[in-house]
Amino acid sequence: MLKSLFYLQYIPQAFLYSLKRDRYERYYLPKRGSESLVTPGKLLQIKPSERGFHIYFEQAELEIDFLTHDLVRLNWSPGLLPIPYAIATQDWDLVEVSLEEKEDCAIIKSDSLTIEVTVNGYVRFFNQAVEVLREELPPQWYGERLVHQAQLRSEEHIYGLGERASTLNLRAAKNPQQKPKTYQMWNYDPAGYGSGIDPMYICIPVYMGLHQAGSYLVFYENSFRAEFTFADVTTAAFAGGSLRYYMTIGEPADLIERYTQLTGRASLPPRWALGYHQSRWGYYTEAAIRQEVAAFQNNKLPLSAVHLDIDCQVAHRPFTIDPIRFPDLDGFIQELLQLGVHVIAINNPGVKFSRASNLFIEGQILNAFCKYPDGQLVIAPVWAGGKAFPDFTNPKVRLWWSRQYAYLLDIGVAGFWHDMNEPATFVSWGDRTLPQVAQHSMEGRGGNHREAHNLYGMLEAEAAYESLRQFRPEQRPFIVSRSGWAGLQRYAWTWTGDVASTWDALRQTISIIVGLGLSGIPYSGSDIGGFQGNPTAELYLRWFQMATFFTFYRTHCAISVVPRTPWTYGEPYLSILRRFLQLRDRLMPYFYTLAWETTQKGYPPVRPLFWSDWTDSQLWDVEDAFCLGDALLVCPIVQPGSDSRTIYLPKEHWYDFWNDTLIRGRQTIDLEAPLDCIPLLVKAGSILPMQDGEQLILHVYPPVSGNNEGCVYSDAGDGYGKFRLDKFYLNRSETGLEITWEQQGEFEFPYSSIQLQVHGISIQQAWIDEQEVLTPRQQIECRLFKQVRLQFN
Ligand code: NOJ
Repeated sequence: MLKSLFYLQYIPQAFLYSLKRDRYERYYLPKRGSESLVTPGKLLQIKPSERGFHIYFEQAELEIDFLTHDLVRLNWSPGLLPIPYAIATQDWDLVEVSLEEKEDCAIIKSDSLTIEVTVNGYVRFFNQAVEVLREELPPQWYGERLVHQAQLRSEEHIYGLGERASTLNLRAAKNPQQKPKTYQMWNYDPAGYGSGIDPMYICIPVYMGLHQAGSYLVFYENSFRAEFTFADVTTAAFAGGSLRYYMTIGEPADLIERYTQLTGRASLPPRWALGYHQSRWGYYTEAAIRQEVAAFQNNKLPLSAVHLDIDCQVAHRPFTIDPIRFPDLDGFIQELLQLGVHVIAINNPGVKFSRASNLFIEGQILNAFCKYPDGQLVIAPVWAGGKAFPDFTNPKVRLWWSRQYAYLLDIGVAGFWHDMNEPATFVSWGDRTLPQVAQHSMEGRGGNHREAHNLYGMLEAEAAYESLRQFRPEQRPFIVSRSGWAGLQRYAWTWTGDVASTWDALRQTISIIVGLGLSGIPYSGSDIGGFQGNPTAELYLRWFQMATFFTFYRTHCAISVVPRTPWTYGEPYLSILRRFLQLRDRLMPYFYTLAWETTQKGYPPVRPLFWSDWTDSQLWDVEDAFCLGDALLVCPIVQPGSDSRTIYLPKEHWYDFWNDTLIRGRQTIDLEAPLDCIPLLVKAGSILPMQDGEQLILHVYPPVSGNNEGCVYSDAGDGYGKFRLDKFYLNRSETGLEITWEQQGEFEFPYSSIQLQVHGISIQQAWIDEQEVLTPRQQIECRLFKQVRLQFN
């Protein structure tokens, strides 16, 4: 009841805004319908260019530029070129490329990629083995609109497109008429969503195609609204912009490495960010948060951060915290930091349209807000009434916005949470965002919301990231953004928004998070237990167990639901959740090493099962399990009342984390899942680094044969100082295992001692640097070593 009253107040404003938006759009949007089809026509001429070739057709031009031997940029003109917001790397070494002209086509080749362009504008991509990986049809232009199609193989699977509440293989989903689903590219707030909803907060026009001949990735550098469908052909239809896209070939991991070389990688987060975060919309006061933190301590539950939602602000205004309800914010933040708890503050981009708002006056002086084409400010309702919206496509505005974080940073706010930045607005009908005709600077080139919409949240995150780098250069930025576009990973983490509290949504969360990773966004998580609704104790517990293996580990929920913490449901839940929180803490060296790997290669820590064996097509549709790095395979419980589940395992061998049973891969097995356990497997050959206080515990899971390696990354946990990499090489023989250690980097080894814990095999004798040692309970206590030899029974 209260809740609906809450929203009722916005009805008149939402109504008036929707009317006004429609009026402006009717007047200023280009009329549609009569555009005739234009295709490239016949190929006329080919000229060499610095990185490839320029191909002239009767009605179009195609530039093919090789950025690396396996990454190529294609640009069909005509079309409005994008501002390169997504692109992180502009300098590429030159690549040797050859051209062969035939009667009906031109063949352009690098060492590993061959492109055939036919006289009619078909483009085919081949790998070294001369297998076709992708076959594109000639592009079609209808006025400003453009349509790009490619043939799909019957077995081909498609992944990516950013954040999608769909099947992991996007091609498998059907619409209500049982036709292939169409995916929208238009960042959107699907409040309280469940599975199947589309679009969501982060739409990215990038996808991976996987079939029997191999895999490839395509990224369209076009931020306009678009629709993607994957039937016998894929269709990408853009409302404007140009057909500039990037294509790369290779195994899935190589594709992500290349894509993130192009669009950038996440920097190393502060180590604390990988711990557990507690949040709720409705803490309201300092006292409430203090009490919550104390309860974490009393219940012996590790806690890394708390989040302040909009109810902690002054009338939901950005960069404010209510001075009455938080009378000594500075002191309070320090008090929590003493306990190891970091404070994250929310921010929405809308600025209160009021003379009484300094932020509004500053922005108005700077001409910072989006306007209608006739110069009127766009004022749209969102929390606490009419808001003006900063135009983040203007560098001056990003700079102004970035200065606003400074004083919250000064008092120790550890990071920022960007919400409602699709941007979302309250409407009575139509699109929940700014009018399509809202004007944007687009770095001075000019443009409107049709082009800027999908970029909005990412550019806000850029402003924040730059701010944190500038005003607190000795610490690493931590920003969580609800919305974003290609390249968001350079600035922010994300979470999956206002998900329903249902079992269906729990299951759906897995493919959303895996799909985000395959779209270049490595750090994400979901509101544990769901945002909208009151989960049962069992649902909360199962969600918590799953989230223990996601990078962003946070409980959060709506203001209208029952407050939710690990102790809300009493015993046995509290004890089980404590064990999972402690497990997460112990896994920190592994998480942190994965975070380091992400900086090097762009790999998402949370991966699909086909990541390490794309040739096994039985893995292509597994969407109710995921891998965390190469070592762990996590099988969440996605149904109520289950005490076991099945899983089809990737190749090689796996150990059951809970009882060390060795299991052969490439078979479907049944795993026990009593309430206190999530089925979890460790790949044979892994060294799983964990910690217990000051001690590093290297869990050794011997390979069945051959060699393997693993590593542990360490540094001070924040800042930009020294680091070290400890690499371990495993060599399995018939009778034993040899572990050699190679140290790199200058950071001093941060652990006081080491324990090797050997799993699955019983040790008969062991030597550290040729000194025989005892092995009680399969454990070896040691300090730094060069070599450990183990002899098995
Ligand atoms: C919507 C966000 O998705 C949610 O997490 C937040 O609690 C509310 N806005 C209120 O700020």
